[in-house]
Amino acid sequence: MDASAQTISGKLLAWYDASHRSLPWRSPPGSAPPDPYRVWLSEVMLQQTTVAAVGPYFEKFTSRWPTLEALAKAEEADVMAAWAGLGYYSRARNLVACAREVTRLGKFPETEAELRKLPGLGAYTAAAVAAIAFGERAAVVDANVERVVARLEAIEDLLVKARPQIRARVAELTPTKRPGDFAQAMMDLGAMICTPRSPRCLLCPLQDACKGRVLGPERFPVKAAKASKPQRRGQAFWIAANGKVWLVQRPGKGMLAGMRALPDDGWNARGDGQGQAPLEGPWLPGGVVRHSFTHFDLDLQLMLYSGSDWARLAADHGEWWPLDLLEQAGLPTLFAKAARLALAQD
Ligand code: ADE
Repeated sequence: MDASAQTISGKLLAWYDASHRSLPWRSPPGSAPPDPYRVWLSEVMLQQTTVAAVGPYFEKFTSRWPTLEALAKAEEADVMAAWAGLGYYSRARNLVACAREVTRLGKFPETEAELRKLPGLGAYTAAAVAAIAFGERAAVVDANVERVVARLEAIEDLLVKARPQIRARVAELTPTKRPGDFAQAMMDLGAMICTPRSPRCLLCPLQDACKGRVLGPERFPVKAAKASKPQRRGQAFWIAANGKVWLVQRPGKGMLAGMRALPDDGWNARGDGQGQAPLEGPWLPGGVVRHSFTHFDLDLQLMLYSGSDWARLAADHGEWWPLDLLEQAGLPTLFAKAARLALAQD
């Protein structure tokens, strides 16, 4: 490691010792690593999701499934329902598959290369688990780390082009001792100091080494203008009777696969909102739910059934779910919002 890299990692670790966030999946700086199960679970949850949003889910999962073996034995549908609200549901499905695979192996693999072979472990998660749980000198690069390094080195290339250079610099900076603390220190620096807007450069332990600071750190990393997302429309159907609502299970493939949901018109396939209601008869508009997915925005028109022919549904694939237990249905956020809208009109 060159001298500048040593200085940078040393300063960052000293800052982390004093200023780290205490989070339920961490052990204190410099101490023995946490249980790999907890590291892996938290890292999967933290992809695309904030620390604040993850906290309650991490508590819920580790109380209900305290060990990897417990999670491996869980029903996939229960894990999906417990995940409801976190989004990116393929993560939950992979979680169960991975828990079963690790149980079959007998223990977590301990290197980045071996971890990468597990279901759902991409480059980021494999490196994070290797560094944090097993002390491997792996280069952990998430969006926070990209921002910190793009500023530190004042990288003028577009981020998509700069990624290999950023990864190489992170690999140089990562120390042999405490690589897991170093990775988490970079994340904390990105979350608390080197923030996307109005970074707190005066408090930054790396201010002297930062090439981007004098140039205006906010312009790094350089990103292409965002294309606006396509707007899709669809309808969801609220059919309630006798204190229960009709819920269906979504197909095993496609958006929100396998999740419990309100019946809808198939907006995910076509996006034009022209599908069939599950019952003929009188429908009243119940308002519109707006929801943003990664690749499109959706306006979901809620339709409320006001007829009395609902008993016909029992032959179809679905279930009458008690309204007072709706919280436990594990509806993904889009449908939880639609259900709240419907209930507000009763
Ligand atoms: N984001 C992703 N992994 C994290 C971690 N271990 N600590 C804080 N934020 C994170």
